[in-house]
Amino acid sequence: MLQIDNLQVAYGRTQVLFGASLEVPTDSLMVLLGRNGVGKSTLMKATMGLMKTFGGRVLFEGEDITGLTPSKRVKRGIAYVPQGREGFPQLSVRDNLKVVLEATEHKQQSAIDEALDLFPRLVPILGRDAGFLSGGQKQQLAIARALVTRPKLVLLDEPTEGIQPSIITEIEDAIAAMNKASGLSILLVEQHLEFALSIGDHYGVMEHGEIISSGATADVAESTVRDLIAV
Ligand SMILES: Nc1ncnc2c1ncn2[C@@H]1O[C@H](COP(=O)(O)OP(=O)(O)O)[C@@H](O)[C@H]1O
Ligand SMILES: [Mg+2]
Repeated sequence: MLQIDNLQVAYGRTQVLFGASLEVPTDSLMVLLGRNGVGKSTLMKATMGLMKTFGGRVLFEGEDITGLTPSKRVKRGIAYVPQGREGFPQLSVRDNLKVVLEATEHKQQSAIDEALDLFPRLVPILGRDAGFLSGGQKQQLAIARALVTRPKLVLLDEPTEGIQPSIITEIEDAIAAMNKASGLSILLVEQHLEFALSIGDHYGVMEHGEIISSGATADVAESTVRDLIAV
């Protein structure tokens, strides 16, 4: 589905990705692991076209999308939920979803209904301004907004970061359901190793701007991955 091939990215003169390569198989839920600062968010931004690359390629469904703008990548079927999650705080939850729908080509209202099926907690607060939501509600809205585009692949950057534990479980369940029920491919950055390996069918470990290990989670022991992350 997604093939990241030897990507090189820098912030100014500081190189951050040193030839990162990763393949996300169709229908898979791949967890991207690695300590803070190794380049996970940068890899997602570059995949989305939000960072200029000076080497390497991104292929989506076999086609080279390296030169495409972010909005063209969204049209191809990639959605991105950045770390930190911000919708439009002055718009209601409903309007946050509508704004995304209006920007799509499909314009199917059912896309909003299906997103709300996954996040039923948003239904009673559809009229509330997004700026007044809790962290967990904001995160659910951010994922729901991504789903309204009817993506084939969703990039989720630490969706459970800073969220209260009771809501984390709900978000985890929704992510698993997105993958299983809707056949969505997902690339998920997740800090909680145990949860990551239980939800993911594939994993990648990043260290200093490179993917140092990847494969099926069924084929690897948690302790092995823990050691790889800590190198
Ligand atoms: N806007 C930026 N300008 C300069 N350096 C940055 C910027 N964003 C991230 N970095 C640096 O790039 C490296 C990778 O960051 P990031 O991709 O956010 O890592 P991760 O998501 O794995 O924590 C870090 O060393 C970070 O300090
Ligand atoms: Mg990050």
